[in-house]
Amino acid sequence: MKSYAAVDLGPLHDFVEFTPASEEFRADVMAGLALPQKQLAAKYFYDARGSRLFDRICELPEYYPTRTETAILRDHAGAFRTLIGPHASLIEFGSGSSSKVRVLLDTLESIAAYVPVDISREHLLASAKELAEAYPDLRVLPVCADYTRPFEIPTIPGERARVGFFPGSTIGNFTHEEAVRFLRAAAIDLGTDNGLLIGVDMPKDAGILHAAYNDTAGVTAAFNKNILRRINDELGGDFDLDAFEHDARWVAEASRIEMHLVSRNRQRVHVGGRSFGFAAGESIHTENSHKYDVGGFHTLAARAGWRAVSHWVDADRLFSIHYLRVA
Ligand code: TRP
Repeated sequence: MKSYAAVDLGPLHDFVEFTPASEEFRADVMAGLALPQKQLAAKYFYDARGSRLFDRICELPEYYPTRTETAILRDHAGAFRTLIGPHASLIEFGSGSSSKVRVLLDTLESIAAYVPVDISREHLLASAKELAEAYPDLRVLPVCADYTRPFEIPTIPGERARVGFFPGSTIGNFTHEEAVRFLRAAAIDLGTDNGLLIGVDMPKDAGILHAAYNDTAGVTAAFNKNILRRINDELGGDFDLDAFEHDARWVAEASRIEMHLVSRNRQRVHVGGRSFGFAAGESIHTENSHKYDVGGFHTLAARAGWRAVSHWVDADRLFSIHYLRVA
């Protein structure tokens, strides 16, 4: 699977590819649309366009997580410096635009390397280059991979410890079982003497949650529908984007936001030589965003073999950051 692409590395030290094959996307889509509750995996939101739309979500006035998490990172930079220590390498899962990590890069001592891991190849390369230009002394080693599957973290000369960075409450986009599986795999990938700095969104007032995932500018709706556009462009589908409506619901019993695309009427859609029927009001479930309180997240982490060392929460108790070590 590992291949070195013919890319212009510019200021990058290396680029490692485990880019998922389009065949995988096709198989997942066909299987997901055939389920009684149609479903698509959230990782497929992130092509280049989806990654850009997600960056816009992060800047929306209603979307509190990015702002809140960045503020917590800034407020406790000194604590991270002490906990992580010198000569650590930082591995970021789902690095996107690599903006939050800058707070850590500005504060940690002699970082051995920064390894951004992302599924969105072009966006990853562009962001990694920009970062390497801004931090000329930093060794930046991007890895294009679907981190929900096995991949290798490159060997880093002079690294004393490996620390995973998993912000944005992406852990909440997994089911509990998937989250445990991911956290177990991360413990193995990171190796011994490792830590994990992870951002986790918390349960809160339903109105705040609803607004965050149903913004008035419609960016989240465009992001949600981008998955249908990808199916049309890459798999030759014929989804009519206007015939589906974005819907994000807070499901209190499951402590999660559920994102759906709801068919406005009875219709048939064709993808890859197959046809899928929709009743009016029938939905495709595209994403979950689970919210964990501190105790709930500790329980989850413990199931995956991680020990909670410290956590930080903002004054309004919207968002939390946890530092975990292998138990
Ligand atoms: N990890 C982010 C979250 O759960 C992802 C996200 C934010 C998202 N807004 C979204 C995913 C809208 C799909 C649609 O908050």
